[in-house]
Amino acid sequence: MSRKNKLAKFRENQTFECLIQPLSDDMIADNFSLKGHWNEQVFHNDNPIVLELGCGKGEYTIALAKHNLNINYIGIDIKGARLWKGAKEATLNNMPNVAFLRTRIDFIRSAFGSDEVSEIWITFADPQPKNANKRLTSPVFLDRYRSFLKKGSIINLKTDSQLLHKYSLETAIEQNLEILEYNSDIYGSGRVDNPNDILNVKTFYEQQFLAKGIPITYLAFKL
Ligand SMILES: C[S@@+](CC[C@H](N)C(=O)[O-])C[C@H]1O[C@@H](n2cnc3c(N)ncnc32)[C@H](O)[C@@H]1O
Repeated sequence: MSRKNKLAKFRENQTFECLIQPLSDDMIADNFSLKGHWNEQVFHNDNPIVLELGCGKGEYTIALAKHNLNINYIGIDIKGARLWKGAKEATLNNMPNVAFLRTRIDFIRSAFGSDEVSEIWITFADPQPKNANKRLTSPVFLDRYRSFLKKGSIINLKTDSQLLHKYSLETAIEQNLEILEYNSDIYGSGRVDNPNDILNVKTFYEQQFLAKGIPITYLAFKL
């Protein structure tokens, strides 16, 4: 993407009501005004809130929101040019149950208050082969999620990375968490034969991995 194109997207991002772009300083200082107030100030209802972490262009956020009109979805990513795609689609389709948050997931504790979130999707996250603590399913991140998740909330992990899949499964076992499902090849195993299954949604990155013949994995556990 050219620099000009990127800047045009950043400019349009400022106009999207559904895209929230807090200052890094406010996130670092735990001084974000929507923390604990998403339902009343953004969605104007009491419906559950579900997050997609590292949402990129927001394919899952948008697809889940179309499937479940009574659930609010927030896609989170640091890359503004990718978030533009999801925010544009949510705006054009007038989707009141979609929001996007541009921030580093490392600061996620500053974004949500206690018991504010009901479920998390992690879609094709960077596997961070050299630094396990940076993986979005590491004990460090799970503790961050605990600060705002309702007890027993489901974490869904869809990834092409066998390393991340196995690591996350082992972490869940070590932490005595209830594992709901694990599958190391969802398409090869016939797990998603039903075309309406939400696991059939294929993100931008997923399409690239599939084109290379890389198996796609899924893990769900309760935190
Ligand atoms: C491999 S891409 C996957 C994007 C999308 N889920 C998909 O499947 O097409 C990983 C995404 O996670 C985002 N990401 C990685 N680490 C992050 C962090 N610490 N905070 C916010 N976003 C992060 C990147 O910007 C990128 O868009």
